[in-house]
Amino acid sequence: MDADLVIVGAGLFGLTVAQQAVEKTGARMQIIDVRDHIGGNAYSYKDKETGAEIHKYGAHLFHTSNKRVWDYVNRFTEFTDYNHRVYTTHKGEVFPLPINLGTINQFFHAHYTPAQAKALIQEQAGELAGTDPENLNDQGISLIGRPLYEAFIKNYTAKQWQTDPSELPASIIKRLPVRFNYDNHYFKDTWEGLPKDGYTAWFERMIDDPRISVSLSTDFFDSSQPFNRDALVGKVPVVYTGPVDRYFDYQLGELKWRTVEFKEQRYDEDDHFGCPVMNFSDSDVPYTRAIEFKNFNPERYEEQNHERTVVWEEYSRFASKGDEPYYPINTAEDRSLYTQYKELAGQQPQVVFGGRLGTYAYYDMHQVINSALMAFEKQIGPMLAQ
Ligand code: FDA
Repeated sequence: MDADLVIVGAGLFGLTVAQQAVEKTGARMQIIDVRDHIGGNAYSYKDKETGAEIHKYGAHLFHTSNKRVWDYVNRFTEFTDYNHRVYTTHKGEVFPLPINLGTINQFFHAHYTPAQAKALIQEQAGELAGTDPENLNDQGISLIGRPLYEAFIKNYTAKQWQTDPSELPASIIKRLPVRFNYDNHYFKDTWEGLPKDGYTAWFERMIDDPRISVSLSTDFFDSSQPFNRDALVGKVPVVYTGPVDRYFDYQLGELKWRTVEFKEQRYDEDDHFGCPVMNFSDSDVPYTRAIEFKNFNPERYEEQNHERTVVWEEYSRFASKGDEPYYPINTAEDRSLYTQYKELAGQQPQVVFGGRLGTYAYYDMHQVINSALMAFEKQIGPMLAQ
């Protein structure tokens, strides 16, 4: 073993740490990943038939207001000027999201001014005034009023959670943004875009250095291969970005996650939806949303097949063992369990737990990169200097 640091997980946390460690200390890195590709959940590949770039683990849009992160990622890739916008189909009609004045006026067949729309929503949201929302339904009505909540939020949320919102805690939704103008840019960040030549090219450039070795299809818990937990921990510094409960053999119990399944559809058309993301807010469509990948990259028009298009429908459900863990469920019980695992993690010699799985948190890409840059500065760099 001639690595100075072993990194478990070739997602954005692991790749950022590897890149920083080599650049700042010249140390030798060994990255392993149980999957057969780098990039973690942000990995994408080119679909041969249509020319679309498929985001294998769900749509990934890069956005940030963090200058340090924006400058950092621009060292490895240029970004397109893609601006994310989402639409939703409700009762056979298409509306813009997030809910904005366009959505409101279309829904009520009106031409309200911003002030009139605000007054209307306030009045409708007052239906349950003076009561404490007992469940997600009451919470939604109190935030935006019953008509908009029932049209755009209720059934979508029921599909996401596979549970009727009247049985879900109010705390799942803290706020439901409504814009009283026609702005339907999804993100409010300073910078936004998609990597010009794809996510995987970006990630390959981050670790293009002879001091970084990558072993794919390699499970940290498989003791028959050399880079495994029992052989390494305590002997070499390790950055672990897999599930924290798995590291401790689930000894305190399992943390709960939601997962997403994708069903692929192909159409003999150039363009099926006319946009990259179409939500379905009614209960008669079983999936939450559909992604038409070609439409993320209109600048690649010449490289795309205009006779065929590929669409992935997304089905959300609770994850069980063996499923890809996507979104932490984060009940009070989960948070308390994670606190106990965090204590155990703190007692592990020379192991840094990071990333979304290692810290049981939902992170966007810019957030995970930022947390890796900080972890390198505060923990990993000093460890390598010892
Ligand atoms: P990530 O999960 O990417 O990497 C961890 C790696 O560890 C994986 O490759 C895994 O295989 C590996 N691993 C686990 N156990 C192992 C073991 N035992 N041995 C070896 N390797 C092991 N963000 C954003 O900014 N914009 C967006 O639009 C989206 N969209 C989005 C959609 C969906 C459906 C999800 C679930 C997530 C997003 N994200 C996002 C979030 C984004 O995916 C996230 O920020 C990064 O993937 C986090 O990177 P990590 O390195 O933390 O984890």
